[in-house]
Amino acid sequence: MPPTRQKPIVAIDGPAGSGKSTVAKLVARAAGLQFVSSGAFYRAVALLAVRGGIIATDEVALVGLADSLHLRFTTDADGTVRAWLDEDDVTDALRDPSVEQMASKIAIIPDMRAHLVRKLREYGRDGGLVMEGRDIQTVVFPDAEVKVYLTASDEERARRRWEELRAGGEAVSFASVLAEVKTRDARDSGRDAAPLRAAPDAVCINTDGRAITQVVDAVLALFPA
Ligand code: CDP
Repeated sequence: MPPTRQKPIVAIDGPAGSGKSTVAKLVARAAGLQFVSSGAFYRAVALLAVRGGIIATDEVALVGLADSLHLRFTTDADGTVRAWLDEDDVTDALRDPSVEQMASKIAIIPDMRAHLVRKLREYGRDGGLVMEGRDIQTVVFPDAEVKVYLTASDEERARRRWEELRAGGEAVSFASVLAEVKTRDARDSGRDAAPLRAAPDAVCINTDGRAITQVVDAVLALFPA
């Protein structure tokens, strides 16, 4: 562990529905570390763009939004993490399907990413966190003590996302969710700027048919002694 870090950094990446946010939250709770969803930052810029009528190709405006982004988090008594832009609770708005599609469209812009990477690294200055996303083990914290890449089949990942949307009251078809997951995967893996991939030294875990607790235990077993 670098001398500046008292506690480890755990970096978890993977495609949509691979289970990374559920696993990351449980690992953070078990190890007494802070949980950070990097996707919330990309979604927050996307939300501001959608609300402001900014299109996905307006790089100057999007870079400006990322530079001035001030996203903060609070935790409810039951452990629910809430995201805020000023006094606006945007937790639910960030999960909107239109916002997540916009997030993956704007995520191809290198200068926009650079601002978010800078903000995300500030969280890790002293270590002690679990961060999940697409480029955490490759770009944001390539020197993380624990680096994990989660995968699962397309159908399994779409099923998880479909159930999450239905639980939230969204009437969507499985076929449309599967198509959206595949579109977002193609964009995230195919882009030039920080494409989604496993770092050479990451541990890859396929979560198909594995209980969440098994995956969490597998990640905890990777912690330095
Ligand atoms: O939870 P889910 O995997 O569905 O999405 P997310 O992690 O909230 O990320 C939403 C979108 O933001 C992704 O599809 C990526 O395009 C982008 N993103 C990124 O490019 N880099 C990150 N570190 C995190 C998210």
